[in-house]
Amino acid sequence: MCGIVGYIGTKRAQDFVMDGLEKLEYRGYDSAGIAVNTGNGKFAVTKKEGRLQRLADELHTNPIEGTIGIGHTRWATHGKPSDTNSHPHFNKDKTIVVVHNGIIENYLELKKDLISKGYEFLSETDTEVIAHLLDMNFDGDILEAVRKSLKSLKGAYALGVMSTKDPDRIIAVRKESPLIVGIGKGENYLASDIPAILKYTRDMYLIENGEIVEIKKDSIKIMDQDGNPINRDVFHVEWDIEAASKGGYDFFMLKEIYEQPEVITKTLKSRVDENYNIKFEDIGLTKELLENINKIYIVACGTAYNAGLIGKYILEKLTRIRVEVDIASEFRYRNPIIDDKTLVIVLSQSGETLDTFEALKESKKSGAKVLAITNVVGSSISREADSVVYTWAGPEIAVASTKAYTTQLVILYLIAIDYAQKVGKLSSENAKEFVKELFGLEEKVAKTLLYEKELEEISKHIIKQHSMFYLGRGLDYLTALEGSLKSKEISYIHSEAFPSGELKHGTIALIDDGVPVVINVTQDSLLDKSVSNIKEVKARGAYVIAIAKEGAENIEEVCDKVFYIPKVNDDLACFLSIIIHQLFAYHLAVAKGNDVDKPRNLAKSVTVE
Ligand code: F6R
Repeated sequence: MCGIVGYIGTKRAQDFVMDGLEKLEYRGYDSAGIAVNTGNGKFAVTKKEGRLQRLADELHTNPIEGTIGIGHTRWATHGKPSDTNSHPHFNKDKTIVVVHNGIIENYLELKKDLISKGYEFLSETDTEVIAHLLDMNFDGDILEAVRKSLKSLKGAYALGVMSTKDPDRIIAVRKESPLIVGIGKGENYLASDIPAILKYTRDMYLIENGEIVEIKKDSIKIMDQDGNPINRDVFHVEWDIEAASKGGYDFFMLKEIYEQPEVITKTLKSRVDENYNIKFEDIGLTKELLENINKIYIVACGTAYNAGLIGKYILEKLTRIRVEVDIASEFRYRNPIIDDKTLVIVLSQSGETLDTFEALKESKKSGAKVLAITNVVGSSISREADSVVYTWAGPEIAVASTKAYTTQLVILYLIAIDYAQKVGKLSSENAKEFVKELFGLEEKVAKTLLYEKELEEISKHIIKQHSMFYLGRGLDYLTALEGSLKSKEISYIHSEAFPSGELKHGTIALIDDGVPVVINVTQDSLLDKSVSNIKEVKARGAYVIAIAKEGAENIEEVCDKVFYIPKVNDDLACFLSIIIHQLFAYHLAVAKGNDVDKPRNLAKSVTVE
């Protein structure tokens, strides 16, 4: 969480830093700040609690002139959002400034020590210890001060550091938290993520764990912590800045929902040839390896975890291999049984989620083969895993994940089909049929999107409710979990998801007049049982919205509203029903006047545990 940006060149740093922060606001948005070297011996530092716009307004009125600057957009961990707790943090005489993404785990110990040496603290943050530590270790050379200070720091960090007493460079460091350096002409850039600087350059260095970078306006030097130079290939970004803009939509989330027909096919095409053969030669999942695997873990957080649950369903169904799905933040601490016969699949849109990253490292240490499914080329997770399969969703900017989820499902289905084929559980003919059906999703998803207007209408009647329930049986329950998460995070209406048959074991006590119940009934074999479950909640006053397949009988009579998705194989219905949930959540949030793309308390990339 948190985003950092830096600029060094000959133009006004403030403009680049603010532009970059705007692109990184998805990483945290409870406060922001900037420091610029104005040439008078002290940094000009402006910090504001609240959205970036408040900082922008302040800088519009009181701009800072100077050609070297760093900035930060914050997702609070240590200390509440406030002007003082915002970054950049600085030493006593404001000659050293630092921005930080991550957590300094031993900051209390360091703080105590620094206080005993006479340092005074202004903020409640962990980051301020770095500023004072740098001050203590500074002897005219800011790079040396950084190298010395790193020896004391424990935790995760991406840092940007400057000193007015060593003014011609920015020093950046990476440990766990992501960091990239952009290569310009007579100017260079620093950022947590590519979109922040893509407007200015497509050529970047992806900084690795434990590396330090000295950034001057005409040079970039990457080194290890002992100062040994490191040669790094330039990473050229292929995708366009357009992909990271709203393109006429009110919110990124809506744009991203509408991109799904296209990105589902794009992701399929990345792994399927024109004869519907799946291509996974590069990821090492050979027949021999798969025959040796006796257990699969899927490890992820949030929406990616929900996609993992569907992955388990389809993998177990097709391969008959045991699959467990784990929440990444729990995985490492429960001592999971892993050995060289285990396949661990880590799922992460950003490729930076710290819990998932740590689970990956732990699994590798225990001998498992680790496959990553991620959306971000060059991300930490993609680099650390044994092999990687990319989803080709394009940049996902809205905090609420949509197209990353459906493209993760695409890859999980392809892995399951390929796996089943390799271990002799699926004929090549049936595999191809299944893949063809996946290609049919583009048109069916596009058709499902046509419900947007109706969902907008219905949402307006639901927003006064304080609580909702999401139900489903089998695969439908797994979709309900994601539907509920989507609506909670952006509409702020409390909801819970349940297997439809489980409600009567307690939770049905909460059903009362008008309580909305959104139920997925897309599984043909479970239709009759689902109708009974609808009757149970209807009899207790619920307002029932159902998602069923075209042609499903007996649903309309028992529901208040039915959305019919196009006819599709039961195993693929989840790709369509989730579209209804996404649009519903989106319109609930819009109707409530919420900031859809930046829901409260959240951030897109969770790089703290
Ligand atoms: C919800 C959402 C989060 C993420 C989770 C994992 O809409 O976006 O739940 O899915 O934080 O993020 P990644 O996939 O980047 O590891």
